[in-house]
Amino acid sequence: MPEYGRVRQLLQSRRPGHSLPQALYTAQDAFAFDVRAIFGRAWVLVGLACELPNPGAAMALTVGTSPVVVLRDRTGDIRGFHNSCRHRGAMVCPPGHSQRPLLVCPYHQWSYDLTGKLVGVRRMQADFDPAAHSLRPIHVRNVAGALYVSLAEDPPPFDDYAEGLAPLLAPHDLPNAKLAHSAEFIEKANWKLVMENARECYHCAVRHPDLALTFPTEVRAHFAADEAGRVDRFNARMQAAGLPIGPTMGDWWQAIRFPLNDGVVSMTMDGKHAVQKLMVPQENGDIGSVRWATEPNSFCHSLADHTFVFTAEPTGPQETLVTTKWFVHKDAVEGVDYHVESLVALWLTTNKQDIELVENNQRGVNSIGYLPGPYSEEAESLVGRFTNWYCREATLAAEEVG
Ligand code: FES
Ligand SMILES: [Fe+2]
Repeated sequence: MPEYGRVRQLLQSRRPGHSLPQALYTAQDAFAFDVRAIFGRAWVLVGLACELPNPGAAMALTVGTSPVVVLRDRTGDIRGFHNSCRHRGAMVCPPGHSQRPLLVCPYHQWSYDLTGKLVGVRRMQADFDPAAHSLRPIHVRNVAGALYVSLAEDPPPFDDYAEGLAPLLAPHDLPNAKLAHSAEFIEKANWKLVMENARECYHCAVRHPDLALTFPTEVRAHFAADEAGRVDRFNARMQAAGLPIGPTMGDWWQAIRFPLNDGVVSMTMDGKHAVQKLMVPQENGDIGSVRWATEPNSFCHSLADHTFVFTAEPTGPQETLVTTKWFVHKDAVEGVDYHVESLVALWLTTNKQDIELVENNQRGVNSIGYLPGPYSEEAESLVGRFTNWYCREATLAAEEVG
């Protein structure tokens, strides 16, 4: 991997507390490196287990640039595979959700069962061994209904995260949710710019006036505000209601239940619940939000009435696919208990505003005059955590390759 030499130099030249050296946001070699070193190893959120309600339910997507498929097998277990045929490598499952008894490759119809075993193959020589040509498995973990995969043979430890997040998410009953809506965006910006933007609310008060109505965006510690004992009162109320508040924090994750603004019970345009059938009925659904976020590429908000999920996948040096999903109670009836338009309006608006911000950020970073600039310790601490984590992981990976 000769290209890693330059990436290593770029990482070494990084100034702590500052945005990254230019080429890490712009160059083809840095993109190829990230796809392998970061997305080829980390635990990546792919969605919720409720997206696979029945045996044979599958969802195919890309992690970095690797196609994967995650499915529920006949025994109800969730499994993941590289979505690459063991014949000549074609993608076996098309992107998106599907229901299928077997995975049949569209090219020459090699067929795999839901455990990945090759069970149907034509016109191969007598000494061909189907047992040696199963789909290659990937690691999958399910924490309180949230599905993570790792493409690494030996993935990073997951248990501390699972143990920290599970009690926070448990009251939100995600196994009994359903996908109400999803939206994808191609953003013309490096994935790290997309994620840096997603890790701060320095820009929120001015650039997201609607979002800023739902929670305090100008507080000292993002998502951990304490003005005039408001957080203490909220925490005491949540504890009395039996709702854990966290926080839990590790190298690559943070999760906390935090209070929304007074009078606001959900992240919606009017601050009211968008879904009448609540996921969390305690306190009449006035329970703030659990923000759960993992490096490299996700953040989520679990509210009383819905859960919002955001993930980003690099598709090019200066292009990122952002996927957003809204989940509601599985028994909530569209048109009766909720209207998709009002459910999605706030984050859809916010994401469109963010596209403008990150694409503009990329254009400026491409300038011959760009120099890494300092993060605000007060307002951009989570951006600093993200880039520190990235640089640590990337440096380790670059050293391993040598
Ligand atoms: S590539 Fe899948 S059957 Fe040929
Ligand atoms: Fe934003």
